[in-house]
Amino acid sequence: MKAEIAIIGGTGFESLIEHGEWLRIGTPYGIPPPILVGEIRGRSVAFLSRHGLRHEKPPHRVNYRANIYALHTLGVKRILATNAVGAINPDFRPGDLVIPHDIIDFTKSRQSTFYEGEPVVHIDVSQPFCPEVRAILIEEARKHPVKVHERGVLVCTEGPRFETPAEIEMFRRLGCDIVGMTAAPEAFLARELEICYATVCFVSNMAAGMQARLTVKEVFDVASRVSPVIQQILSDTVWRLPQERHCPCSRVLKDAGLGGETPNR
Ligand code: HPA
Repeated sequence: MKAEIAIIGGTGFESLIEHGEWLRIGTPYGIPPPILVGEIRGRSVAFLSRHGLRHEKPPHRVNYRANIYALHTLGVKRILATNAVGAINPDFRPGDLVIPHDIIDFTKSRQSTFYEGEPVVHIDVSQPFCPEVRAILIEEARKHPVKVHERGVLVCTEGPRFETPAEIEMFRRLGCDIVGMTAAPEAFLARELEICYATVCFVSNMAAGMQARLTVKEVFDVASRVSPVIQQILSDTVWRLPQERHCPCSRVLKDAGLGGETPNR
């Protein structure tokens, strides 16, 4: 089975896939959750539930390398992701969508590269989210009656706890707009395999210290409210993605001095 595009997201998104077949794929990095491979509007698409089908994996225990490598073995060239985030920038409110353009990685314990040995590889992440995919996501998102932030700096924390108010104040001073727990190292691992990656984030809450307390219930409540809109955006984006890629993602290994070799372990 092959897929050119992948969606990484929450439960419910599997209904986007037509003629789907669930696959179990082993990788040198471990076994990812079952991946649904089928079609969206004639394009071959894989769906992967980041936290597992029963939402059993906390953000710091997700096997990001196995997930991304499995998609790579399917032939995936572009990933459309979704992430729940808290708002640090007071102009961003619960229910808003954000297509971040940059990211700060504040994770601590995750396996964050495929390139552990020789040759030493330094990939360029001057544009960590694919500019081509972002542009289409933004255009499609703007067709909906929902507030869309076309840029934003996402900080990824280790979790699984939410942040303290002092941490959020620090992130605000550093220029972060939104905070989540899952975009890193996912976006970087995709780039290491020359896969385009962009994400539609939804704001589920104001970050710690900006509202009285944080509850998981509000994250899930906002997720179920915005999920139909995000699904429509992703489906329309899949349909509009050009066959050819003209972005930095597709030549990152060449720019890193490699000829598209597979990673050493
Ligand atoms: N912090 C980190 N991750 C999150 C948050 C938050 O406030 N809300 C949803 N995911």
